[in-house]
Amino acid sequence: MTPGESDRSDRLDAGWCDDPLLDVADLVAGYGATEVLRGVSLCVGEGEVVSLVGRNGAGKTTTLRAIVGNVAPDAGRVAFRGEDVTRLSTEETVRRNVAFVPEERRIFPGLTVAENLRIGRLGGSDTARSRDPQDVLAEFENLREHPDRLGSALSGGEQQMLAIARALVAGADLLLLDEPTEGLAPFVVRRVEDLVRNLNDEGISVLLVEQNVQVALELADRHYVLDRGEIVYHGTSDELRENDEVMDRHLGVTT
Ligand SMILES: Nc1ncnc2c1ncn2[C@@H]1O[C@H](COP(=O)(O)OP(=O)(O)OP(=O)(O)O)[C@@H](O)[C@H]1O
Ligand SMILES: [Mg+2]
Repeated sequence: MTPGESDRSDRLDAGWCDDPLLDVADLVAGYGATEVLRGVSLCVGEGEVVSLVGRNGAGKTTTLRAIVGNVAPDAGRVAFRGEDVTRLSTEETVRRNVAFVPEERRIFPGLTVAENLRIGRLGGSDTARSRDPQDVLAEFENLREHPDRLGSALSGGEQQMLAIARALVAGADLLLLDEPTEGLAPFVVRRVEDLVRNLNDEGISVLLVEQNVQVALELADRHYVLDRGEIVYHGTSDELRENDEVMDRHLGVTT
Protein backbone atom coordinates (compact mmCIF):
# COMPACT_ATOMS: atom_id res chain seq x y z
CA MET A 1 0.00 0.00 0.00
CA THR A 2 1.31 3.42 -0.86
CA PRO A 3 0.46 5.94 1.80
CA GLY A 4 -1.09 9.19 0.66
CA GLU A 5 0.89 12.40 0.91
CA SER A 6 -1.28 13.71 3.71
CA ASP A 7 -0.32 11.10 6.28
CA ARG A 8 3.25 10.91 5.20
CA SER A 9 4.75 12.85 8.10
CA ASP A 10 2.84 10.69 10.58
CA ARG A 11 4.21 7.63 8.92
CA LEU A 12 7.68 9.06 9.10
CA ASP A 13 7.38 8.99 12.86
CA ALA A 14 5.94 5.53 12.95
CA GLY A 15 8.18 4.11 10.27
CA TRP A 16 7.00 3.49 6.75
CA CYS A 17 6.12 -0.07 5.93
CA ASP A 18 2.75 -1.60 6.58
CA ASP A 19 3.97 -5.10 7.23
CA PRO A 20 7.62 -4.62 8.16
CA LEU A 21 10.21 -7.32 8.59
CA LEU A 22 12.07 -5.05 10.99
CA ASP A 23 10.20 -2.41 12.92
CA VAL A 24 12.06 -0.05 15.21
CA ALA A 25 9.94 2.39 17.18
CA ASP A 26 11.07 5.28 19.38
CA LEU A 27 14.32 3.64 20.34
CA VAL A 28 16.23 5.36 23.12
CA ALA A 29 19.66 3.97 23.96
CA GLY A 30 23.12 4.99 25.02
CA TYR A 31 26.11 4.13 27.13
CA GLY A 32 25.69 4.73 30.85
CA ALA A 33 24.56 8.30 31.38
CA THR A 34 25.27 9.24 27.76
CA GLU A 35 22.10 9.16 25.71
CA VAL A 36 22.95 8.50 22.07
CA LEU A 37 19.67 7.52 20.41
CA ARG A 38 16.85 9.90 21.19
CA GLY A 39 13.84 8.15 19.77
CA VAL A 40 14.81 6.42 16.54
CA SER A 41 12.05 4.92 14.40
CA LEU A 42 12.64 3.09 11.16
CA CYS A 43 11.47 0.02 9.34
CA VAL A 44 12.63 -2.42 6.70
CA GLY A 45 10.08 -4.19 4.55
CA GLU A 46 10.46 -7.67 3.15
CA GLY A 47 12.86 -7.58 0.21
CA GLU A 48 13.98 -3.99 0.75
CA VAL A 49 17.41 -2.46 0.97
CA VAL A 50 17.18 0.47 3.36
CA SER A 51 20.03 2.74 4.34
CA LEU A 52 20.83 4.54 7.55
CA VAL A 53 23.20 7.36 6.80
CA GLY A 54 24.72 10.11 8.87
CA ARG A 55 27.92 11.74 9.94
CA ASN A 56 30.53 10.42 12.34
CA GLY A 57 29.12 9.77 15.78
CA ALA A 58 25.48 10.24 14.73
CA GLY A 59 24.55 6.94 16.36
CA LYS A 60 24.40 4.59 13.37
CA THR A 61 26.39 1.78 14.96
CA THR A 62 24.53 2.23 18.23
CA THR A 63 21.24 1.80 16.33
CA LEU A 64 22.40 -1.53 14.87
CA ARG A 65 23.74 -2.66 18.22
CA ALA A 66 20.46 -1.80 19.92
CA ILE A 67 18.54 -3.71 17.22
CA VAL A 68 20.53 -6.89 17.84
CA GLY A 69 20.48 -6.52 21.62
CA ASN A 70 24.15 -5.67 21.94
CA VAL A 71 23.20 -2.40 23.63
CA ALA A 72 20.17 -2.54 25.92
CA PRO A 73 17.60 0.08 24.90
CA ASP A 74 16.29 2.39 27.63
CA ALA A 75 12.99 2.80 25.82
CA GLY A 76 11.30 1.92 22.57
CA ARG A 77 10.65 -1.31 20.75
CA VAL A 78 12.32 -3.52 18.19
CA ALA A 79 10.16 -6.06 16.40
CA PHE A 80 11.19 -8.67 13.87
CA ARG A 81 8.38 -10.27 11.86
CA GLY A 82 5.99 -8.80 14.35
CA GLU A 83 7.70 -10.43 17.31
CA ASP A 84 9.03 -8.15 20.04
CA VAL A 85 12.79 -8.80 20.25
CA THR A 86 13.70 -5.67 22.23
CA ARG A 87 14.95 -7.50 25.29
CA LEU A 88 16.44 -10.52 23.58
CA SER A 89 20.15 -11.24 23.66
CA THR A 90 22.18 -10.98 20.48
CA GLU A 91 22.28 -14.79 20.23
CA GLU A 92 18.51 -15.04 20.47
CA THR A 93 18.07 -12.32 17.85
CA VAL A 94 20.53 -14.02 15.49
CA ARG A 95 18.53 -17.23 15.84
CA ARG A 96 15.64 -15.39 14.24
CA ASN A 97 17.74 -14.97 11.09
CA VAL A 98 18.96 -11.47 11.74
CA ALA A 99 22.61 -11.31 10.68
CA PHE A 100 24.86 -8.52 11.88
CA VAL A 101 28.18 -7.68 10.24
CA PRO A 102 29.89 -5.19 12.55
CA GLU A 103 32.12 -2.30 11.56
CA GLU A 104 35.31 -4.02 12.66
CA ARG A 105 34.85 -7.12 10.46
CA ARG A 106 35.84 -9.42 13.23
CA ILE A 107 37.21 -12.36 11.33
CA PHE A 108 39.75 -14.65 12.95
CA PRO A 109 43.17 -13.89 11.43
CA GLY A 110 44.68 -17.19 12.59
CA LEU A 111 41.92 -19.32 11.05
CA THR A 112 41.46 -20.17 7.40
CA VAL A 113 38.58 -18.96 5.24
CA ALA A 114 36.80 -22.32 5.64
CA GLU A 115 37.33 -22.34 9.41
CA ASN A 116 36.08 -18.78 9.75
CA LEU A 117 32.93 -19.83 7.90
CA ARG A 118 32.35 -22.87 10.07
CA ILE A 119 32.41 -20.61 13.11
CA GLY A 120 29.45 -18.74 11.62
CA ARG A 121 27.51 -21.94 12.08
CA LEU A 122 27.82 -21.70 15.84
CA GLY A 123 25.54 -18.69 15.78
CA GLY A 124 22.82 -20.71 14.12
CA SER A 125 20.24 -22.97 15.70
CA ASP A 126 17.36 -25.25 14.82
CA THR A 127 15.16 -22.27 14.18
CA ALA A 128 17.64 -20.49 11.92
CA ARG A 129 17.80 -21.23 8.23
CA SER A 130 21.49 -21.90 8.49
CA ARG A 131 23.33 -22.62 5.26
CA ASP A 132 26.11 -24.95 4.33
CA PRO A 133 29.44 -23.06 4.36
CA GLN A 134 30.24 -24.66 0.99
CA ASP A 135 27.08 -23.27 -0.57
CA VAL A 136 27.77 -19.81 0.79
CA LEU A 137 31.37 -19.96 -0.34
CA ALA A 138 30.28 -20.77 -3.87
CA GLU A 139 28.82 -17.28 -4.12
CA PHE A 140 32.09 -15.59 -3.21
CA GLU A 141 34.37 -16.03 -6.15
CA ASN A 142 37.64 -14.86 -4.60
CA LEU A 143 37.14 -16.74 -1.32
CA ARG A 144 35.97 -19.92 -2.99
CA GLU A 145 39.25 -20.33 -4.78
CA HIS A 146 41.32 -20.15 -1.60
CA PRO A 147 39.43 -21.81 1.27
CA ASP A 148 42.71 -22.60 3.05
CA ARG A 149 44.06 -19.09 3.14
CA LEU A 150 44.46 -17.57 6.57
CA GLY A 151 42.25 -14.66 7.53
CA SER A 152 45.39 -12.57 8.07
CA ALA A 153 46.38 -13.06 4.42
CA LEU A 154 43.14 -11.59 3.06
CA SER A 155 42.81 -8.07 1.70
CA GLY A 156 40.39 -5.63 3.35
CA GLY A 157 37.78 -6.36 0.70
CA GLU A 158 38.16 -10.11 1.10
CA GLN A 159 37.85 -9.78 4.86
CA GLN A 160 34.63 -7.85 4.37
CA MET A 161 33.30 -10.54 2.04
CA LEU A 162 34.27 -13.23 4.55
CA ALA A 163 32.53 -11.36 7.38
CA ILE A 164 29.37 -11.17 5.27
CA ALA A 165 29.68 -14.82 4.20
CA ARG A 166 30.04 -15.89 7.82
CA ALA A 167 26.90 -13.97 8.79
CA LEU A 168 25.03 -15.77 6.00
CA VAL A 169 26.13 -19.21 7.18
CA ALA A 170 24.20 -18.68 10.41
CA GLY A 171 21.11 -17.94 8.30
CA ALA A 172 19.92 -14.49 7.28
CA ASP A 173 16.57 -13.06 6.28
CA LEU A 174 17.73 -9.62 7.34
CA LEU A 175 21.31 -8.50 6.98
CA LEU A 176 22.55 -5.57 9.05
CA LEU A 177 25.70 -4.15 7.50
CA ASP A 178 27.79 -1.55 9.30
CA GLU A 179 29.85 0.47 6.80
CA PRO A 180 30.80 -2.48 4.60
CA THR A 181 32.75 -0.31 2.17
CA GLU A 182 34.79 1.66 4.68
CA GLY A 183 38.45 1.83 3.75
CA LEU A 184 38.06 -0.17 0.55
CA ALA A 185 39.42 0.82 -2.84
CA PRO A 186 36.78 1.98 -5.34
CA PHE A 187 36.86 -1.22 -7.42
CA VAL A 188 36.43 -3.31 -4.27
CA VAL A 189 33.55 -1.07 -3.18
CA ARG A 190 31.82 -2.00 -6.44
CA ARG A 191 32.28 -5.71 -5.72
CA VAL A 192 30.73 -5.29 -2.28
CA GLU A 193 27.86 -3.42 -3.96
CA ASP A 194 27.38 -6.29 -6.42
CA LEU A 195 27.39 -8.77 -3.58
CA VAL A 196 24.75 -6.86 -1.62
CA ARG A 197 22.61 -6.62 -4.77
CA ASN A 198 22.91 -10.36 -5.39
CA LEU A 199 21.98 -11.19 -1.82
CA ASN A 200 18.99 -8.89 -2.07
CA ASP A 201 17.96 -10.60 -5.32
CA GLU A 202 17.99 -13.86 -3.39
CA GLY A 203 15.42 -12.39 -1.04
CA ILE A 204 17.60 -11.13 1.80
CA SER A 205 16.48 -7.76 3.14
CA VAL A 206 19.21 -5.33 4.11
CA LEU A 207 19.66 -2.46 6.54
CA LEU A 208 22.80 -0.74 5.35
CA VAL A 209 24.70 1.72 7.50
CA GLU A 210 26.95 3.92 5.40
CA GLN A 211 28.95 7.08 5.66
CA ASN A 212 29.51 6.84 1.93
CA VAL A 213 26.26 8.40 0.74
CA GLN A 214 26.96 7.48 -2.89
CA VAL A 215 27.05 3.79 -1.97
CA ALA A 216 23.81 4.17 -0.02
CA LEU A 217 22.14 5.95 -2.96
CA GLU A 218 23.39 3.25 -5.29
CA LEU A 219 22.13 0.31 -3.24
CA ALA A 220 19.15 1.32 -1.16
CA ASP A 221 15.52 1.99 -2.06
CA ARG A 222 14.90 4.26 0.91
CA HIS A 223 17.13 6.22 3.26
CA TYR A 224 16.96 7.38 6.83
CA VAL A 225 19.27 10.22 7.80
CA LEU A 226 20.43 10.15 11.40
CA ASP A 227 21.83 13.24 13.09
CA ARG A 228 22.73 13.35 16.77
CA GLY A 229 20.58 10.38 17.62
CA GLU A 230 17.51 11.49 15.72
CA ILE A 231 16.08 10.61 12.32
CA VAL A 232 15.97 14.00 10.62
CA TYR A 233 14.98 12.88 7.14
CA HIS A 234 13.50 9.94 5.30
CA GLY A 235 13.13 9.56 1.56
CA THR A 236 13.75 7.63 -1.61
CA SER A 237 17.02 7.82 -3.52
CA ASP A 238 15.61 10.34 -5.97
CA GLU A 239 14.26 12.51 -3.16
CA LEU A 240 17.49 12.43 -1.19
CA ARG A 241 19.66 13.06 -4.23
CA GLU A 242 17.73 16.23 -4.96
CA ASN A 243 17.62 17.49 -1.40
CA ASP A 244 20.68 19.75 -1.27
CA GLU A 245 19.92 20.92 2.23
CA VAL A 246 19.87 17.43 3.77
CA MET A 247 22.87 16.34 1.73
CA ASP A 248 24.85 19.35 2.84
CA ARG A 249 23.68 19.95 6.39
CA HIS A 250 23.27 16.42 7.70
CA LEU A 251 25.53 14.40 5.45
CA GLY A 252 28.30 16.84 4.67
CA VAL A 253 27.98 16.22 0.94
CA THR A 254 28.39 19.37 -1.11
CA THR A 255 26.21 19.28 -4.16
N1 LIG B 1 31.06 1.98 23.93
C1 LIG B 1 30.79 3.28 24.01
N2 LIG B 1 30.83 3.93 25.20
C2 LIG B 1 30.55 5.25 25.30
N3 LIG B 1 30.19 6.03 24.25
C3 LIG B 1 30.13 5.44 23.04
C4 LIG B 1 30.43 4.05 22.85
N4 LIG B 1 30.29 3.76 21.55
C5 LIG B 1 29.92 4.91 20.94
N5 LIG B 1 29.83 5.92 21.84
C6 LIG B 1 29.43 7.30 21.53
O1 LIG B 1 28.10 7.27 21.01
C7 LIG B 1 27.97 8.21 19.95
C8 LIG B 1 27.47 7.50 18.72
O2 LIG B 1 28.41 6.54 18.32
P1 LIG B 1 28.16 5.53 17.14
O3 LIG B 1 29.33 4.63 17.11
O4 LIG B 1 26.83 4.93 17.26
O5 LIG B 1 28.16 6.52 15.88
P2 LIG B 1 28.27 6.20 14.33
O6 LIG B 1 27.20 6.99 13.68
O7 LIG B 1 28.31 4.75 14.10
O8 LIG B 1 29.69 6.85 13.96
P3 LIG B 1 30.80 6.39 12.88
O9 LIG B 1 30.31 6.89 11.57
O10 LIG B 1 32.02 7.09 13.32
O11 LIG B 1 30.91 4.90 12.93
C9 LIG B 1 29.33 8.86 19.77
O12 LIG B 1 29.32 10.10 20.45
C10 LIG B 1 30.28 7.91 20.45
O13 LIG B 1 31.37 8.57 20.99
MG1 LIG C 1 29.68 3.47 13.35
